[in-house]
Amino acid sequence: MTYTAPKGVFDLLPGAPSWQASEVWAAIEEEIRETCRDYGFREVRTPIFERTELFTRSVGESSDIVTKEMYTFLDKGERSMTLRPEGTAPVMRALIESKTLQENPIQKLFYMGPMFRYERPQAGRYRQHHQFGAEAVGSNAPEQDVELIDLLLTLFDRLELNNLSVVINSIGNEESRQRFRSSLRDFLTPHLADLSEDSLRRFESNPLRILDSKDKQDRKILQGAPSILDALDSEASDHFEEVKRHLTALKLPFSVNPSLVRGLDYYNGTVFEVMTEELGAQNSLGGGGRYDGLLKQLGGPDLPAIGFGSGMERIIQTKLQQESDLETPLGPAFFMIPIGDDAIRACFAHLHEMRALHIPSEMDFSGRKVKKAMAYANKINARYTAVVGDLELETNQVKVKELATGEETTVALSDLSIFIASRTAEFESDLFEGISEQMMELFQGKGEDK
Ligand code: HAM
Repeated sequence: MTYTAPKGVFDLLPGAPSWQASEVWAAIEEEIRETCRDYGFREVRTPIFERTELFTRSVGESSDIVTKEMYTFLDKGERSMTLRPEGTAPVMRALIESKTLQENPIQKLFYMGPMFRYERPQAGRYRQHHQFGAEAVGSNAPEQDVELIDLLLTLFDRLELNNLSVVINSIGNEESRQRFRSSLRDFLTPHLADLSEDSLRRFESNPLRILDSKDKQDRKILQGAPSILDALDSEASDHFEEVKRHLTALKLPFSVNPSLVRGLDYYNGTVFEVMTEELGAQNSLGGGGRYDGLLKQLGGPDLPAIGFGSGMERIIQTKLQQESDLETPLGPAFFMIPIGDDAIRACFAHLHEMRALHIPSEMDFSGRKVKKAMAYANKINARYTAVVGDLELETNQVKVKELATGEETTVALSDLSIFIASRTAEFESDLFEGISEQMMELFQGKGEDK
């Protein structure tokens, strides 16, 4: 019996080619953390599963996620649980439960983690995907909307993603949407016979979603459809105008698409999506919007909120499409090759010492021949190597080789750690922040060629 991962999920492995290399993910995650820090967003982590009602009540009974895509199961206590399909509802639940908002009703949080949706897997669409999301609670200012869009676009800019487009819309408050639903139904009624099956189903339950139908015939019918922007009240339309003004002032490119409604029920007001040209059908790199009523609906305080979620697989795939040459991951600073039991013991002690000094180091445990061990050191991209045998132990002298240049330096075995630390610190000072000032002083004058 051989085991394979279930359909639509995947592993991340070090050195894996393509978007599944764990090093690439770590680098992207670091950029996300840094960008969130710059914008004042702090990290939140919520459980992978929640009570099912949390999602049915927020994401909504008419959304595709709730009707078709949830991984729902009964636990041993016969309670219905669901693997989280998205992050917004869990974060709001956590804020309400922790009473954090009573102390500070302004909260700006971000998260990264797996989400689960039973979708038909294809490129860019998975049953377990990872989202980077940000949620800002407590402000209904248009600046808050723009701060989020700016955060997402700044991240994409730092990741050097090109050919993106930003689409925004406002879907107003519930009353405006009620009005708009009825005028949209009036408009569509004479065309019911020609609508796609999906749109016909949505005609009663959620006619707004018909607007983003991809069906050709639907699109043709929708050409003369009324615009939701005409149904907005003055507050929502003033807010939207201010959002557009700020985006323009910050030189963030965008276009307005009155058909953008997004597929989750909790939205109201500003909605937005960032699209890439690189990924074919699954072209949404991220999307979000306001959800001012959600906290209250979940039993929390009546506070406005806005956020977005962005698919990390899609971010990484877009980056790889545009930049095939990713940096080779850094190997260990030092790789020791011992010959004989005494050398193994001595090297093992040095290994421990170097790691305590934050020097990423390795040694050969396999006892393979020196030539093979050297080839391996090259393969894992080690910077320095040293072969240690009886002679080196006796004389307390060892030749340290820099693999890139072939240059050899003879060093006292007892000074090995200090020497490697001083050499590597010159090149990768940030990697060695852990080495204390005192240690650095010790390096002066030591470890040079003898
Ligand atoms: P969403 O549009 O359903 O929104 O998902 C956000 C992003 O997650 C999408 O734009 C896409 O990049 C990625 N994504 C979604 N499903 C998949 C999938 N099956 N495979 C790969 N990537 C996927 C939300 O989830 C909202 N919670 C966003 C939000 C936060 N709104 C306000 N705050």
